[in-house]
Amino acid sequence: MTSPTSLSRRRGRSALLRDVAGRMVWLLAALLPASSSAGAAGGEVEVLHFWTSGSEAGAVAELKASLHRKGHVWKNFTVANGGGGLAMVMLASRVNSGNPPTAAQIKGAAIQEWAQRGGLSSIDEVANADQWNTLLPRSVSDTMKYRGRYVAAPLNVHRVNWLWIDAAALKKINARPPTSWDEFFAVAEAMKQAGIIPVAHSSQSWLDMGTFESVAIGVGGVEFYQRAFVQLDPAALNSALMVRTLATYRRIKHYSSSQSSGQDWVASTAMLTHGKAGMLLMGDWAKAEMQAAGKRPGSDILCVAMPGTAHAFTFDIDALAMFQVNDKNRQAQRDLAHAVMDKDFQLAFNLAKGSIPVRQDVSLEKFDDCARRASADFKTSARRGTLLPSLAHGMAQPAHTVARMWDVINQYWRNDRITPEQAAAQLAAAARQP
Ligand code: GAL
Repeated sequence: MTSPTSLSRRRGRSALLRDVAGRMVWLLAALLPASSSAGAAGGEVEVLHFWTSGSEAGAVAELKASLHRKGHVWKNFTVANGGGGLAMVMLASRVNSGNPPTAAQIKGAAIQEWAQRGGLSSIDEVANADQWNTLLPRSVSDTMKYRGRYVAAPLNVHRVNWLWIDAAALKKINARPPTSWDEFFAVAEAMKQAGIIPVAHSSQSWLDMGTFESVAIGVGGVEFYQRAFVQLDPAALNSALMVRTLATYRRIKHYSSSQSSGQDWVASTAMLTHGKAGMLLMGDWAKAEMQAAGKRPGSDILCVAMPGTAHAFTFDIDALAMFQVNDKNRQAQRDLAHAVMDKDFQLAFNLAKGSIPVRQDVSLEKFDDCARRASADFKTSARRGTLLPSLAHGMAQPAHTVARMWDVINQYWRNDRITPEQAAAQLAAAARQP
């Protein structure tokens, strides 16, 4: 039965999404040239993505509105799975059958892989006209290019290494946000004693890896992360530090919500939002769901870096990679690339998505404290060399390597008979396979 509270929460959430959507449609209308009347030589834009939660769908609806206004037809190719593992399988099957979409939500190393296969199309014309080189940090623009030419358009920057804490739960146990894993387990234990489920857990393997890679920073440091997950150095992957990382990671399980539920990230985020758990280890896409449910990030729900990672920023950049299309749809693809990097769109999309704009010239005045902290930490980390590509989100390694490593960590989490030593050896083996 639907309770009045959940009904009003849902109403609040849809009102907010409508509000955000309305604002974004207005902004897009303002930025599109007057000549873009609907129906004029329109093409079709088919976009593969995995943005299916309420907040995600609200954000992506704006691209659709933008393309409609240009007279193009928008076709959603949606694969509900979060993290994008299944979406990549579906994409491969469409490309292999000679029928690629116009664009697909692809990240990091996978952009290069698709380009190497010869499947992507250059959008340099738009990128040069709109001066992307001056608007994007070099570390981002490089990953959007193949052989010096843009083949993908970036939408945002998500920070992966966030810990979200219900302020009321923390107050109840009279504690401070933890800054090390020892402090984290002390807070978790106190919550447990107070009858609060300490950690809302989701059983999706990409999320397990997102937490695990952050534990590696907290336990072994930035250099260890780089050696293990960026360089795939077997001596770091199968090391005493990795064994300690695995042992620390497993301790989280004792404080996590039930494993049998098979719940996804939206459901575990809702546990925190609805006061059913005290903490959540997840990137800031979760924040958009919290906001949509009427919570204020930074006060109702606190955002702190995952324990021991305050000096680092693990990033996850969403981008739309452009596939080869026929002449009829070429202009529609260009319009899509232009819309993605438009300044007002970046503002509106990221407000709805929980991330920060990838364009460096967007004012953060309208953003919450957590986004402002993310932006400041992004800049500081870039300066200090502690900006780290998230392994879990395909920013550091090709998709097939990431999938194998996801699997090792997921099996380890689920099966207590696998020892940390065995899992460390498995990680090294998974990274070694071609
Ligand atoms: C991430 C993606 C985010 C968000 C999240 C959950 O991989 O970069 O945009 O969608 O998955 O679906």
